[in-house]
Amino acid sequence: MITEKLLSRIPSELEGAPAEEVLRWAVERFHPHIKLACSFSAEDLVVLDLLAQLVDKPQVFMLDTGRLHPETYDLVDRVRARYGIEIEVYFPEARAVERMVREHGVNLFYQSVELRKLCCQVRKVEPLRRALADTKAWVTGLRREQSPTRARLRKVEIDETHGGIVKVNPLADWAREEVWRYVKEHNLPYNALYDRGYKSIGCAPCTRPVGPDEPERAGRWWWESPETKECGLHVRS
Ligand code: ADX
Ligand code: SF4
Repeated sequence: MITEKLLSRIPSELEGAPAEEVLRWAVERFHPHIKLACSFSAEDLVVLDLLAQLVDKPQVFMLDTGRLHPETYDLVDRVRARYGIEIEVYFPEARAVERMVREHGVNLFYQSVELRKLCCQVRKVEPLRRALADTKAWVTGLRREQSPTRARLRKVEIDETHGGIVKVNPLADWAREEVWRYVKEHNLPYNALYDRGYKSIGCAPCTRPVGPDEPERAGRWWWESPETKECGLHVRS
């Protein structure tokens, strides 16, 4: 089977390797067919900073859902300037958005889990498919600690949903504190919303700040129960 063949080519030591080594392996193997999925989270900026130490101009893409916070857009420009890179921006299909909001309203996500998933499908999942269509590997800022659904995340995986390409999660075993230590030590730019109580940032209508003792993703789709809280970007088929 294709997956088994590919998996056998991923060195097992990578699971215990630090983020820098995981990325170096991935870059040596896949550059220039490797790109970072960047939501401009603190995690993604750590990964970008590490990548920028390995390649001159890392390839970075963002899924612009059309519903992001102004603070996130502001950060996009700061990051472009700091690293001298272009960001590949993927928008949702205009026709699909038009149809969806005509039928269900602009804030359909509050009505039901089904409609929330439809919105994520149109605004994130379908654009991600296009973003990954021409690449051999992608890199994320996912961490195991973020949610129970991510607890078994591997540092290097085969992404069956996107045609068996390689998915690299170099920060899989990082704690939130480690991410912030890196951000501060390297003086990385970060989303201003973090200073206002946000711990995880997605689309504006679906994200809110959380209390100091709340889990970090408690502010994402806060009106839903924890089992439904994935938007489909990282769900295995
Ligand atoms: S989500 O699935 O709930 O939206 P989360 O915000 O935790 O994901 O982000 C996890 C990883 O998915 C990020 O580190 C990033 O690699 C990728 N990602 C999430 N949102 C986007 C986006 N809008 N554009 C590009 N990559 C994204
Ligand atoms: Fe739509 Fe909210 Fe999903 Fe963004 S997070 S795509 S606004 S449902």
